Amino acid sequence: MSYETITVEQHDAVTLITLNRPKALNALNSQVLDDLIDAFGHYEADDSQRCAILTGSGDKAFAAGADIKEMSDKPAADFYLDDFFAKWTSHLVKAVRKPWIAAVNGFALGGGCELAMMADFILASDNAKFGQPEIKLGVAPGMGGSQRLTRAVGKAKAMEMCLTGRMMGAEEAERANLVARVVPHDELLDEAMKSAALIAAMPPMAAVANKEMVNAAFETGLDQGIIFERRLFQILTASEDKVEGMAAFIEKREGKWKGR
Ligand code: CAA
Repeated sequence: MSYETITVEQHDAVTLITLNRPKALNALNSQVLDDLIDAFGHYEADDSQRCAILTGSGDKAFAAGADIKEMSDKPAADFYLDDFFAKWTSHLVKAVRKPWIAAVNGFALGGGCELAMMADFILASDNAKFGQPEIKLGVAPGMGGSQRLTRAVGKAKAMEMCLTGRMMGAEEAERANLVARVVPHDELLDEAMKSAALIAAMPPMAAVANKEMVNAAFETGLDQGIIFERRLFQILTASEDKVEGMAAFIEKREGKWKGR
């Protein structure tokens, strides 16, 4: 499959999706959205693919935000009536039940930071920079940043970043729990591939359920979340992979997964 604004490669069970507008620091325009929706749709539908990685091309940026040039002349009515930005969450978060990782290799600003936060977790290179600088453009986050950033790093840092537009470096982002891990820039893709391969080797139905229950922590109260977790756990005990996984442990061998 070839796209205008992204590249997609399959490495065994891992799909590597790369934002590919390096001259515009991988700014996110409508074509990027269409391409990502298609690529993630194929990833989700392809049973041979068990984990995806999203990264940015070039050394400088994961994505420097929504495309300002595309938005600058657009009338407010179009933003509103087209429900601009809605598809990012509906198609890349809600519709993708399989795991995916953001490998942030540089600037992740505005929509770029928001896109990274849509991933199940972020691996950052040591030169990654996160920020929600939309206020400087007379606007505000529009792809979930005010909500996901606040849930990740808490009110103080989220508020400071949104109100001042300052960027957060990789080390600070790790301390603030925005990213799972920081790795040397040159090792980012290798590390992301290793993490993705580990996930891809897990029982796939259990991977979906683990993702779903962790995400539920952001949507529900504690009691409901714990009940949801318990029910998913109980459902998993009926899977063939549970029988295989426990037998493999007892027999001291690797499990062979059916995904059922
Ligand atoms: N949209 C469109 N083009 C962008 C872009 C963006 N978000 N970010 C960078 N570019 C383009 C620049 O216009 C420039 O193109 P030209 O060579 O044609 O002029 C090219 O990428 C390189 O950028 P710079 O010359 O600015 O590179 P720099 O190293 O001097 O600065 C930067 C890097 C600090 C990231 C700077 O580019 C910048 O501040 N970018 C904008 C960041 C931003 O405001 N993001 C939020 C966008 S709004 C948004 O995302 C809304 C939302 O909530 C979803």
